[in-house]
Amino acid sequence: MKKTTQIRVGVIGVTGRGGLARQWHKPDGGRSVLVAGADVKQDALDAFKAEVNKDAFTTLDYRELIARDDIDAVAVCSPDFTHEEYACAALAAGKHVFCEKPMAITTEGCDRMLKAWKKSGKKFMIGFNMRYMNIFRTMKDVVDSGVIGEIKVVWCRHFVGFGGDWYYHDWHGNSKNSTGLLLQKASHDIDMIHWITGQYTKRVSGFGSLDYYGGNKPNDLVCNECAEKRTCVEYQYNETTRKVNRMNQCVFRKEIDVEDNSTIMMEMENGIHATYMQCHYTPDYCRNYTFIGTEGRIENVDDGTNVIVKLRNRSKRWKNIADQHLTIKPAVGGHGGADPVIADDFLDMVLDGKEPIATPMAGRMSVAVGVAATHSIRHGSGGVNIPRPPACCRQ
Ligand SMILES: NC(=O)c1ccc[n+]([C@@H]2O[C@H](COP(=O)([O-])OP(=O)(O)OC[C@H]3O[C@@H](n4cnc5c(N)ncnc54)[C@H](O)[C@@H]3O)[C@@H](O)[C@H]2O)c1
Repeated sequence: MKKTTQIRVGVIGVTGRGGLARQWHKPDGGRSVLVAGADVKQDALDAFKAEVNKDAFTTLDYRELIARDDIDAVAVCSPDFTHEEYACAALAAGKHVFCEKPMAITTEGCDRMLKAWKKSGKKFMIGFNMRYMNIFRTMKDVVDSGVIGEIKVVWCRHFVGFGGDWYYHDWHGNSKNSTGLLLQKASHDIDMIHWITGQYTKRVSGFGSLDYYGGNKPNDLVCNECAEKRTCVEYQYNETTRKVNRMNQCVFRKEIDVEDNSTIMMEMENGIHATYMQCHYTPDYCRNYTFIGTEGRIENVDDGTNVIVKLRNRSKRWKNIADQHLTIKPAVGGHGGADPVIADDFLDMVLDGKEPIATPMAGRMSVAVGVAATHSIRHGSGGVNIPRPPACCRQ
C-alpha cells in the first residue's frame, strides 16, 4: 500500500472529549487533517465546522462518515455505550481507529472489538492518555529500573471531587449507558496499575454503594426547571460550567443507579495485591498512587507534580542513597500535556507502524476488571475471575 503522508481523520462525537480531535487538524503540512465530524446534535456540528474546518463533512448519522472514501482514520469520542458499535463499524469499513476509554461497557463488547480489529488488518488504539503524562511515565521508569525492588502491593485512592458535575448530570449516571463508574474514571486507574506493574489482574472483589447521588426526583427533571434550584448546591455548580453538549439532568433523579463510592481489591499476576478506592462526593479532587516493592516505595503526591521515592535503609544495595523527591513538570497541552502526545502516538502507529503505548489489550483488560468488580459489588462482594481475552489476541 502506498504510504499516506497526511492522514484524513473523521471524529464521532465532536464536542466534549471530541475536542481531542483538534490535535489532528494540521492542514499546513502536518501529518493529519480533520476532515469530518458526526454527532447527534446539529448545533455541535455547526460549531465544529465554524471553529475547526469550514470544509469539513458533517453528519447526524455516523454511518455516512465511515462510508466515505476520503477518510483514513476515525476517532470515536462519543459516549461509552457507542464505542463498540462505532469502532467495529469503522474497522470493518477499513478505517484506522482511535477509541476513547472505556473501550466498551462490557467485556464481551471489548472482545468483539478485538476480533473486529484483528480481522480488519487496520490500526487500533485506546485513549489512555494517562500513559502519556510525564508524572506517570516517570513513576513507570522508576519501577522498571528496579530501584524499589519487585512490586508486591499497590494502592490507589481517587477523590473525584467533581463527580456530580461530570457523572451524575447526564448519561453516565445510568448503568445501561456505562455499566458503572469503575469503567469510567477507574478504567484509567486500573490501567495505570496494570501498566506500571506490567501485570494484569486475575481476580477482583469489591464493596460499594450509592450514598449521595440518586433519589426520588423525576427522571425528566432538569436543573434550570427545578423549584429548588436556588438552594441546590449541585445546581449552582452546574450552572457555571454548562456547555452545549452537557445534559443538565437532576443528580438526585430516580434512574441513577451507579455507585458513587467503590473499594475494590485486585489479585494480580505475579502475586501483586492492589486496592483501589473511588469516591464521587469528596470536596476536593486527587488521584494518588502508591507502589510498594521489596526495596522501597514510590508515590505521587496530591498536586500531581511530585513523586516521592523511599528506599528501605536495610537494603545493602541502596543504603547510601537518600529518599528522593522528584518534581515532574507537566508538558504543555490538555490533560497535563498528554493529549498532544497521545494524538502523535496515533499518527506514529498509523503512518510508521509503531506499536502504540495505549494498546487495545490494555483497554480490554481494564474494562474486564471494572465489569468484574462491579459485578462483585452488586452480587455479594465475592471474588470474580477475569475472563481470558479471545484466542486471536492471546500471546
Ligand atoms: N481520555 C480522557 O481523558 C477522557 C476525558 C473525557 C471523556 N473521555 C471519554 O470520551 C467519551 C465522551 O465523553 P464526553 O464526556 O465528551 O461525552 P459527551 O456526553 O460530552 O459527548 C461527547 C460528544 O458525543 C456526542 N454524542 C452523544 N451521543 C452520541 C451518539 N449516540 N452518537 C454520536 N455522538 C454522540 C455529543 O453530542 C457530544 O458532542 C466517553 O467515552 C468518555 O469516557 C475520555
